[in-house]
Amino acid sequence: MKIIKRVVDIRKETETLRKDGKIVGLVSTMGYFHDGHLSLMRRAKKECGKTVVSIFVNPAQFGPGEDLKKYPRNFRRDCKLAEKEGVDYIFSPSAEEMYKPGYGTFVEVETLSKIMCGRARPGHFRGVCTVVLKLFNIVNPHRAYFGEKDYQQLVIIKKMVKDLNLNLEIKGCPIIREKDGLALSSRNKYLSGEERENAAILNKCLETAREMIGGGERNLEKVKGCILERLRKNRFIKKVDYFDFRNTATLEEIKKIKKEQDKILAATAAWVGNTRLIDNKIIKV
Ligand code: PAF
Repeated sequence: MKIIKRVVDIRKETETLRKDGKIVGLVSTMGYFHDGHLSLMRRAKKECGKTVVSIFVNPAQFGPGEDLKKYPRNFRRDCKLAEKEGVDYIFSPSAEEMYKPGYGTFVEVETLSKIMCGRARPGHFRGVCTVVLKLFNIVNPHRAYFGEKDYQQLVIIKKMVKDLNLNLEIKGCPIIREKDGLALSSRNKYLSGEERENAAILNKCLETAREMIGGGERNLEKVKGCILERLRKNRFIKKVDYFDFRNTATLEEIKKIKKEQDKILAATAAWVGNTRLIDNKIIKV
């Protein structure tokens, strides 16, 4: 596995791979790998001739007062884990390599960036789109793999690819969960023992939504009301940013299920202590 820090170097490598007829897969990450990341690498490895994993904690997607400085990092361990998965290249640029002095260009998928997580984190998706487009331009992959845990991010990236006529395929990969249902996230590391135990409530609430809808409930405002009440009763849940039902493709809010709907997205963001966690589930209707 090659570890590459400079844009010119990774570009040279992937240009050669493409000339040799190899399919290049990209997994973009901020490092501190868990099984969710590794599942993306496995999928890329299975479907592509060569796999590039980027590790870059992107300052542009963190707002003032957010966890950029304390975001967990362990580059050595990440490299070992990626190598074990058979990854071919790690691309880990510095912040200065990605954002040269005087940097001034940003990309925004307008409406989708302002709802759900975008409300609580203004500018977040602008930072995500900017870095992801840069990585696409630098690595020039045929396929790029993203986890469905960040469902809104996935929809936004797909829209950016479509709107800007980018020539690559975006692949969404299923959420990987702990035994008690908590979705894997690098930020789970911030949770205290008690918070960790209680964090599984997010997945449980999504399950309850699935059960209520499965049982015939069509009024999603009612479902939402029950769930918000349950979350508010848990003393470890400091704040619920949202618990929404949305169209899986457009992220439009759904308040009542109509006959033609065959699936909906249930998605939530909530603060467990001082840690903001997100989770979601696609519910078949
Ligand atoms: O999902 C993430 O880890 C990040 O948002 C991404 C896609 C690597 C961009 O920095």
